[in-house]
Amino acid sequence: MDIVILKDSEQVAVAGARALQDLLTKKPDAVLGLATGRTPLAMYRQLVAAYEKSSMSFRDATTFNLDEYLGIKPADPQSYRSYMQRELFDDIDIEMSNTHLPECVAGENPLDVGPRYEEEIRARGGIDLQVLGIGQNGHIGFNEPSSSLSSRTRVKTLTRETIANNREYFDDAASQPQLAITMGIATIMDANEILLLATGAEKAEAVRQSIEGPVSSMWPASILQMHERVTVLLDESAASALEKRDYYNWVQDQKRLLLAQIENS
Ligand code: F6R
Repeated sequence: MDIVILKDSEQVAVAGARALQDLLTKKPDAVLGLATGRTPLAMYRQLVAAYEKSSMSFRDATTFNLDEYLGIKPADPQSYRSYMQRELFDDIDIEMSNTHLPECVAGENPLDVGPRYEEEIRARGGIDLQVLGIGQNGHIGFNEPSSSLSSRTRVKTLTRETIANNREYFDDAASQPQLAITMGIATIMDANEILLLATGAEKAEAVRQSIEGPVSSMWPASILQMHERVTVLLDESAASALEKRDYYNWVQDQKRLLLAQIENS
């Protein structure tokens, strides 16, 4: 795992946006896996700013979001579809038909959404770069603790903790969904490359367990230790519980030196 500890959440946003920009420069028709929640908001703002002041384009890109609530309509302001439109899609030149969320369309059996979504991802050649946030309980997507490490896209029951963390977005508890459709852990692990963002002290324990703890379904993000190409972008607070923090910083220094040497040779 490439563990990058940055000063603050703004630097995490800038580095995350740069990774997406670099990919789109190399591969304009890239398939991006996207996340919602508080963490990537600043990164999306950076991306929109970069889009507005450069020649960067999303016209040929495809996106697949990690998850969507079950039981709320796409047009509901609290849906992840609305979030993506508001925070990114409405401000860039992406083709709406190339944007995907695991939405249960009217009349569709919720149990059929997962296999359909998996097929759509496969048909687009798989995900080049998957962006992830992390829950305080270590969830990725809505793969809550005890999710099978081999799971694929499916309906998932949220934990009471996750429901409480997202309660502020809903007018009343009765309108807050308890179920979501989420990419599975194996679906996420199929991505060619993964970018995990974590900011704030409330993520420090989940970050420590996932990076330095054993691989376990009790901390779903710990499975990322088994992926070959993961970059973890952390601010100081999210990195604060890491035992080997100094080593990770030193690795980044060495990496910069090596790259400079290669460039000058
Ligand atoms: C969002 C998602 C979740 C969030 C996680 C962190 O699509 O899949 O795993 O990334 O709950 O949420 P925030 O960023 O709000 O702390």
